[in-house]
Amino acid sequence: MPKRDFVQISDITAAEVGELFQLAAAMKSGQYRERPLEGKTLAMIFAKSSTRTRVSFEVGTYQLGGHPIFLSSQDMQLGRGESIEDTAKVLSRYVEGIMIRTFSHTDVEQLAHHAAIPVVNGLTDLLHPCQVLSDLFTVSEALGGWDGKVIAWVGDGNNMANSWLNAAALFGFELRLSCPRGYEPNRDIFERAKAKTTVTMFEDPEEAVRDAHVVNTDVWASMGQEADAETRMLAFRGFTVDPDFMKLAAPDAIFLHCLPAHRGEEVAGAVIDGPQSRVWDQAENRLHVQKALIATLMG
Ligand code: CP
Ligand code: NVA
Repeated sequence: MPKRDFVQISDITAAEVGELFQLAAAMKSGQYRERPLEGKTLAMIFAKSSTRTRVSFEVGTYQLGGHPIFLSSQDMQLGRGESIEDTAKVLSRYVEGIMIRTFSHTDVEQLAHHAAIPVVNGLTDLLHPCQVLSDLFTVSEALGGWDGKVIAWVGDGNNMANSWLNAAALFGFELRLSCPRGYEPNRDIFERAKAKTTVTMFEDPEEAVRDAHVVNTDVWASMGQEADAETRMLAFRGFTVDPDFMKLAAPDAIFLHCLPAHRGEEVAGAVIDGPQSRVWDQAENRLHVQKALIATLMG
C-alpha cells in the first residue's frame, strides 16, 4: 500500500474523515485501548513555537505505544543548510512518521514527496490542517454535525482561514468570511472553495457572523509576522469578536479559536471565557483526532 500523508485537508476524503472521527470518539471515551504504534517512532520537527501541537502529538504517540522525538529545526543539520530531500531520506531510515511545523508550505510538500513514510503538516504559513480537522470534530460534538450549518471566519485570512476554506470545499458547508482589505485568504484556495460550495466574503464583520452557527477567529499577527504586528493592530480595528458580535450569531452558536489568543485584540475576554466558547474542548480534541490520524497513517 502506498504511504499516505496529511499535508492538507484534501489529502483525505469526506468518508475517511467520518471513519477517523469515529475512531477519535472511541479514543476520547476510553473505549479504544490498542497500541498500534508499539515499536514505532514519530519525528516531530519544529521551526516555530508550539504548545498544543507539540504536546498533543507527543502525548498521543506515547498513548498509542509509540515513541515521539522532538526536533528543533535549529538544532538539526536542516538549520545549517542540509536539504529537505536529504533530511526526508535519512529520517525515513529511522522512524515511521514525521510531523513538521515550519514556515514554507513548499518545504512540507517537498518533505512528503521525498520521504518514504507518512508526513503530517503541523502548521505552515499557508495551512493548519490538523487544527481545522479537529475543529470539525468539535463542531460535530457541539452541534451534531455541519450539514446546513453556517461557519463564520472573522479576522486575518491566514493559515487557519485557508484550511477552513479547504474544509468547506471538501464538506460543502457554507463559509462566510470577513477580513480587512489586504488581509484576505489565499486567492487560489478561495476560488477553489467558491467553485464547490457557498463561500462569501463580507466587508462588514457583523454581516459575516449574522445567524452563523460557528464563529471563528485567530490572532492578528501569526508566527513570523511579529514585525508587522503594530500595522496589523490598526488594520484590524473593528474586527474584535465581542459579545455584540455573538448576539448577531444564531442563539446556540459556538465560538472557536485555535489558540494562543490575545484577549482584547481578536477576541473579547467575555467571549473566549464565556458560555458559548468551546476553546478548551477544541484544544483537547487535537489529542484525540491526531491520535486517530497517526494510528491510521502509521499504525
Ligand atoms: N493551535 C495550535 O496549533 O497551538 P500551538 O501553536 O500551541 O501548537
Ligand atoms: N495563525 C496562527 C495559528 C497558531 C496556532 C499562527 O500561524 O501563528
